[in-house]
Amino acid sequence: MKEKILVTGGLGFIGSHTVISLFEAGFEPIIVDNLSNSNIYVLDGIEAVIGYRPEIHVFDVLDHVKLNELFKIHTISAIVHFAAFKAVGESVQFPIKYYKNNVSGLVTLLEVMEKNEIQNIVFSSSCTVYGEPDIIPVSENNKLKPAESPYGATKQMGEIILKDNAHWCQSQCLRYFNPIGAHSSAKIGELPLGVPNNLIPFLTQSVSGLRDELTVYGNDYDTPDGTCIRDYIHVVDLAEAHVHSVKRLLKHQQLTAFEVFNIGTGTGSSVLEVINTFEKVNGVSVPHKIGERRSGDVVKVWANTEKVNTVLGWVAKKNLEDMLKDAWNWQKSLNSISK
Ligand code: WQD
Repeated sequence: MKEKILVTGGLGFIGSHTVISLFEAGFEPIIVDNLSNSNIYVLDGIEAVIGYRPEIHVFDVLDHVKLNELFKIHTISAIVHFAAFKAVGESVQFPIKYYKNNVSGLVTLLEVMEKNEIQNIVFSSSCTVYGEPDIIPVSENNKLKPAESPYGATKQMGEIILKDNAHWCQSQCLRYFNPIGAHSSAKIGELPLGVPNNLIPFLTQSVSGLRDELTVYGNDYDTPDGTCIRDYIHVVDLAEAHVHSVKRLLKHQQLTAFEVFNIGTGTGSSVLEVINTFEKVNGVSVPHKIGERRSGDVVKVWANTEKVNTVLGWVAKKNLEDMLKDAWNWQKSLNSISK
């Protein structure tokens, strides 16, 4: 019998890639997704990659009745909890929507987990909990700053809630840096709804002619080329980190009931470096201009990966060129579908 892993938000960008990695690692992933920020056709993409169609339940994690029913029919070994809203700008506009979905959703999930004696959870956290770090590269024991957005606040609250439940719940908080790219098959990838907030989907849509041009949000920052620096990580590497985390929970290898890991490559890249690398590896030009700074942007952040490399035993394998090649292949596959 394969161990069953519940993946909430399993049709999302990171969730769908993690479903594939969990299956390939010998687990049986079961998906819960309310389709508020994803598409049922992602399931076809997952099936095309692994030749297996995971079981899916379409409901909201706020629905404790449906959650309870699911835990009655399946013995779940661990939960990977992705289901949350994640647009920083949108969270400023609609804070209640973010607190309800991201915080109440986690609380509801934990309530039903405790009732059903499910004690293992991997939580999707974020480097946004660090704000503008005083020390770079940033490590897990860096002081957290007041969140710069309701989105970041919901991630900080999520970690506090899990820490406060460590007496019955073993949790792994994975602080993602900037997930980009797509599965090499180009069968699944990032599906931003509407105008993309994030750099890479806006960039690939600009190259495809779906957007006029990419605006670089400021080139007068205190960085070598004046543009902001981020730790971009391939979404498949990120998915693999979740498999390591699930295995750590199931083998009871945790040193403490609440553990935090930075999931990054440890390498920072500026916006202009990303643009130049994209043009080099894909043989295309990126139409772009320099514009005003975007409020709330952190100037530079990249991960100290010593803990995740040595304790979790995970190392990012793909570099920026791999990420940008796969991102472009995915966009081209989307373009061909939409023709
Ligand atoms: C990256 C850089 C922008 C768009 C994201 C997620 C957040 C968290 C961390 C998971 C910045 C610049 C962007 C554009 C630009 N992930 N940019 N033009 O803000 O680092 O945060 O990753 O939790 O949820 O939102 O990512 O891709 O928006 O920006 O110049 O059109 O690209 O200024 O320097 P960010 P991003």
